[in-house]
Amino acid sequence: MGRVALVTGGSRGIGEAISKKLQADGYSVAATYAGNDEAAAKFTEATGIKTYKWNVADYDSSKAGIEQVEADLGPIDVVVANAGITRDAPFHKMTPQQWNEVVDTNLTGVFNTVHPVWPGMRERKFGRVIVISSINGQKGQFAQVNYAATKSGDLGIVKSLAQEGARAGITANAVCPGYIGTEMVMAVPEKVRESIIGQIPAGRLGEPEEIARCVAFLASDDAGFINGSTISANGGQFFV
Ligand code: CAA
Ligand code: NAP
Repeated sequence: MGRVALVTGGSRGIGEAISKKLQADGYSVAATYAGNDEAAAKFTEATGIKTYKWNVADYDSSKAGIEQVEADLGPIDVVVANAGITRDAPFHKMTPQQWNEVVDTNLTGVFNTVHPVWPGMRERKFGRVIVISSINGQKGQFAQVNYAATKSGDLGIVKSLAQEGARAGITANAVCPGYIGTEMVMAVPEKVRESIIGQIPAGRLGEPEEIARCVAFLASDDAGFINGSTISANGGQFFV
């Protein structure tokens, strides 16, 4: 039987491409989402992948949701913490609510997603934890003090989990996408977006599938000795 993969925010954007790629590679996939029922229904209709609705910012909902996924599909072998949001504003205009929403979703959400599956991975001596961070967690970004802080924090989570999981056959790695053509980037004002594209040596936005292929590699047996690493997929926009 194929391995089981959980993709948070797996119904749209980058997560949708990850869900589809893992399905194509033979995984049984569960995709989660927060509230866009229409997009989730469309995704399931197109792919046959079941979706689960919970807020990654809430630990109890995450734990209960994960228990349901495991009851339906079996123990989770691969967890992709992909769900994330932006609440951009220059720091002097950023509200505590904008800070908290982003921290709760992008940082605490990763804890809430990985923590419930971790004991089972340790017991079974196999696991793949893959966190979708961002180029802006590596370089910082005007109007993203909140977002950049969480995405840097995600890299800290991965590097620490890598050390804790290694002896138990678990790897933890991150993918740092550059600017990818999803609704998140399309929400940036057009003029600003055009100027961002001008800063990408590749001269274009990335495609969700280009991130999905990085995730599939990190999930595979071929990547067993890669642990605590980051794959930067950003069209040459930033080098670590
Ligand atoms: N660097 C330097 N200055 C900048 C700047 C930048 N990148 N962007 C804007 N400014 C300047 C403006 O020119 C303006 O200057 P003046 O006051 O002299 O005119 C000043 O900052 C303030 O600008 P605004 O009054 O327009 O600010 P605002 O409150 O309306 O906010 C914004 C606008 C939210 C910053 C908007 O420009 C924006 O969304 N920018 C894009 C931020 C961004 O890149 N977000 C990434 C989203 S995608 C993502 O996050 C995915 C991922 O991981 C890659
Ligand atoms: P997107 O198109 O906006 O999709 C976001 C997905 O996450 C949706 O499925 C959404 O569910 C889900 N989600 C959001 N908040 C959630 C919550 N609290 N609980 C559960 N699910 C939640 O975003 P994207 O562009 O694909 O981004 C995916 C990830 O990549 C994010 O972590 C983002 O920070 C990161 N990233 C994106 C880019 C980029 O350029 N796009 C670059 C670097 C990193 P609903 O459909 O219900 O809203």
